[in-house]
Amino acid sequence: MYQTLLTTIENGICTITINRPDKLNALNKTVMQELDAVLDEVYNNKEIKAAIITGTGQKSFVAGADISEFIGLSVEEGKVLAKKGQDIFFKIENSAKPIIACVNGFALGGGCELAMSCHFRIASENAKFGQPEVNLGLLPGYGGTQRLTQLVGKGRAIEIMISGNMIDAATALQYGLVNHVVPQEQLLNKANTILQTIISKAPVAVAKCIAAANAVFDETKNGFAFEVDAFGQCFGTKDKEEGTNAFVEKRKPVFKGE
Ligand code: COA
Repeated sequence: MYQTLLTTIENGICTITINRPDKLNALNKTVMQELDAVLDEVYNNKEIKAAIITGTGQKSFVAGADISEFIGLSVEEGKVLAKKGQDIFFKIENSAKPIIACVNGFALGGGCELAMSCHFRIASENAKFGQPEVNLGLLPGYGGTQRLTQLVGKGRAIEIMISGNMIDAATALQYGLVNHVVPQEQLLNKANTILQTIISKAPVAVAKCIAAANAVFDETKNGFAFEVDAFGQCFGTKDKEEGTNAFVEKRKPVFKGE
């Protein structure tokens, strides 16, 4: 169905694998268009409860935007490219369904930005993160300047961006850029185990947790007011009835996302 993505849906989890191994899964126009389309599927397909984004092979998650497509672009075209990339990554960040990155190798430039737009990240031991755009006379343009600073703090983000140096998985863990580091062969299992736990919870409440955390970084929203509203709205859901009744009745809740 897709030229540059492999997708599977199993036990409610859609695994999206970026599949351009000969180019270390670099994000060309087709990958970006197809990511946009598969995100619509994640949003709209009721069978999908959560998603994983990863890359083909054991070497690279995504080695960046496809540099060959940068040649000859004008100032205006550069802006359009960045805006399109940002919009697609906002779609990941604002998904009501959890989307996590399984970083299986290089996550450079747009690859690091893609991983950072996911709700959290798990890395294999060989993963390497970096924003090497300064080597090309550029800066991160798909949200990286903002999300890296949010995730690791200003000093570390500036050092990573202006040195162009990569950090390894252990450093990424220490910086809080990733939540877990596991051997390569355990990466997808780890993500699936965590997501199975998450999708057994009340979906509306899960979606509101994600939206409330995003509100911290959205200057158009008051996060505390958002939380009051979201908390109140959960009292109108069947899942809140089910969750509280199940607790009192000492049984496991069965949530329907209603
Ligand atoms: N865009 C386009 N093609 C890319 C790419 C990118 N971001 N990253 C890797 N590739 C291609 C290479 O051009 C090469 O293609 P070729 O075999 O047709 O020449 C292929 O992927 C393999 O990469 P190669 O550089 O030979 O692998 P390596 O193991 O020697 O080095 C990296 C790996 C990741 C260090 C190196 O590929 C690299 O620095 N990539 C660019 C990273 C970057 O600057 N990303 C930010 C872009 S904004």
